Amino acid sequence: MQLYNIKDHSEKVSFAQAVRQGLGRHQGLFFPSEITPMDDIDGLLALPFVERSQKILRHLIGSDEMPGLEEAVASAFSFGAPPVVRISDQVSSLELFHGPTLAFKDFGARFMARCLEQIAGDRKITILTATSGDTGAAVAHAFFGLKNINVCVLYPKGKVSPLQEKLFCTLGGNIRTVAVRGTFDDCQALVKEAFDDEEVRTGIGLNSANSINISRLLAQVCYYFEAVAALPAEQRKSVVFSVPSGNFGDVTAGLIAKALGLRVKRFVISTNVNDTVPRYLKTRVWDPHETVPTLSNAMDVSRPNNWPRVEELFKVKGWDLGDLASGMRTDEETKAAMRKILADTKYVSEPHGAIAWSVLQDFLEKGDQGIFLETAAPAKFKSVVDEILGTDIDLPEALASRAGLPLLSDEMDPDWKELRAYLLRNEA
Ligand SMILES: Cc1ncc(COP(=O)(O)O)c(C=O)c1O
Repeated sequence: MQLYNIKDHSEKVSFAQAVRQGLGRHQGLFFPSEITPMDDIDGLLALPFVERSQKILRHLIGSDEMPGLEEAVASAFSFGAPPVVRISDQVSSLELFHGPTLAFKDFGARFMARCLEQIAGDRKITILTATSGDTGAAVAHAFFGLKNINVCVLYPKGKVSPLQEKLFCTLGGNIRTVAVRGTFDDCQALVKEAFDDEEVRTGIGLNSANSINISRLLAQVCYYFEAVAALPAEQRKSVVFSVPSGNFGDVTAGLIAKALGLRVKRFVISTNVNDTVPRYLKTRVWDPHETVPTLSNAMDVSRPNNWPRVEELFKVKGWDLGDLASGMRTDEETKAAMRKILADTKYVSEPHGAIAWSVLQDFLEKGDQGIFLETAAPAKFKSVVDEILGTDIDLPEALASRAGLPLLSDEMDPDWKELRAYLLRNEA
């Protein structure tokens, strides 16, 4: 597989290089030079999840790299296919939260960890990643205990749910966590600074496990196929996906699935009030506002770092951006949506999935099958969900077992000099 840097097309790398590097020169994202449609999509849809995912990823990555790819996929996806739960005649929930950290990030982070393990060999690597919520947990757990790999997770202090924080800030060992006194965008900017600093980058073998890493993105392609495969064949003709979006990795993966030949009638981009993209799609003016904290905190992103990949894909495929549907929901509307889903269908949704469900309603036409991505377990947002819905949902074991552990995080201002010294001190 060859990839190029979106900001400098002369920089071309293999899959292994792109996984190791994360970002290219000038902080450019890597993008596949070719996405060839796959043959026999119906045959592919008939396969079990892991076998189908192995074929999809082998097709994307090619036969000349990653001899251990099939093994990596089987081990990364060992927690099983994501269930597709029908909640009404026209609508199903793609439940992506049955992995070890109860969020969709488990797919990408675990696949990336297994790829890096094979690619890195004996070289020392530092994973530096920013999280607005679930990435931190998924990455920390995926890499916990791996030899030669240190992890440093940055997150905005006070802006991730207390249970989420417990999930990834209590591990210790090769996992360091830093509560940054700022926003997620500040954390993301710090990661970019680190990648721009040659001495830090090479000195500590810097790698980002954010959704900018191509391995994470490619892993996520697989569950779009699973969602369609789970529908009866006669309902696969007119599928509409609604994707709760923050950094736009998930929707990029869905669009890659479409480029591979998966039949999708429409993608719906669903955001909270941090709605840079829905506004952009209407006005074609890129005008990020200051990031506002919301109930769906993992989507509190006003400068989504994967958006250039979406635009690139539309450009190379000759698709029209006008075909992307989009909408945003305020916190009040999100709460109302959660209550309506419960009242109408008895389904408990957390804020991110509820936004996707709600925006989906605006675009469903007769004969469509709508699938919204339920990206995290409601229990990860227990206090919010219980308060809004009047429920008392059970804490799954993955959360219950960590709830009483002390937080091991360090704390700092969003200051590159401070983080630089910290990284060199701790990871060299
Ligand atoms: C629960 C949840 N839903 C949705 C998203 C948004 O996904 P993306 O950043 O790929 O757009 C995130 C991202 O962290 C998340 O944690």
